[in-house]
Amino acid sequence: MITLHDVIVLRARVADWKSQGKRVALVPTMGNLHSGHISLVERAKELADVVVSTIFVNPMQFGEGEDFDSYPRTLEDDQLKLEAAGNDLLFAPPVEAVYPNGKAQQTTVSVPGVSSILCGASRPRHFDGVTTVVTKLFNMVQPDVALFGEKDYQQLYIIRRMTEELSMPIDIIGCPTQRESDGLAMSSRNGYLTTEERHIAPRIYQILTSSAESIQSGMPFADVQQQALNALGEAGFSPDYFEIRDADTLLEPVESSDALVLLVAARLGSTRLIDNLRI
Ligand code: PAF
Repeated sequence: MITLHDVIVLRARVADWKSQGKRVALVPTMGNLHSGHISLVERAKELADVVVSTIFVNPMQFGEGEDFDSYPRTLEDDQLKLEAAGNDLLFAPPVEAVYPNGKAQQTTVSVPGVSSILCGASRPRHFDGVTTVVTKLFNMVQPDVALFGEKDYQQLYIIRRMTEELSMPIDIIGCPTQRESDGLAMSSRNGYLTTEERHIAPRIYQILTSSAESIQSGMPFADVQQQALNALGEAGFSPDYFEIRDADTLLEPVESSDALVLLVAARLGSTRLIDNLRI
């Protein structure tokens, strides 16, 4: 596996692959890789001839007082994992290569409306940071296909919309959330949990599954939501939100909604966890 830090060298490598007719997949990450990320690389290998993963802890998607400085940076360990998974190229640019004029001066890509609800309501401008950096990574790597985890359901939805609305010729593939044996969705932020919090954390998925059962047995949505918020509070979480939404629009469900998604964000101590379940 090659590791590159320079955009010009990256472009030359990808151009060479493309001149040989190779299909290129991109797996964007912020590093500190776990089996969820590796499952994206494995799926990418099935969909393309070469796989480019990126590791970039993107300052533009972290708000004031969030964990940008403490976000785990584990490049050497990540390189070993990617190599073992058969990833072809790792692109790990320095901040100056991505934001040469500083992030305050950066041209921004923003998907209106949906970027300000749910996680966007509690993390203002977070999704503008995500869509801006993903656009930049798309322009740098020029992939045919890009893969993202369904754990970040709203992020995946926003990236799909951005790609479609900006006519980017890239297939966006969502991959299933990978879970620990007790149901906790894999996340780099799980490493922040204390032993006691790690014990409590799987409750979030249990509350999602029991809420899905309540919906399927006909309980009104408002009652399901209140029951879930109470259960999260009793377990020791401070919920940001627990919402039942149309899975295809992320808006409030309507009569014609084909599928629903339950979305939750909650703090456990200082760690903010998110999860979702489609029904
Ligand atoms: O999901 C993530 O790890 C990040 O939001 C992404 C897509 C790599 C953009 O920085």
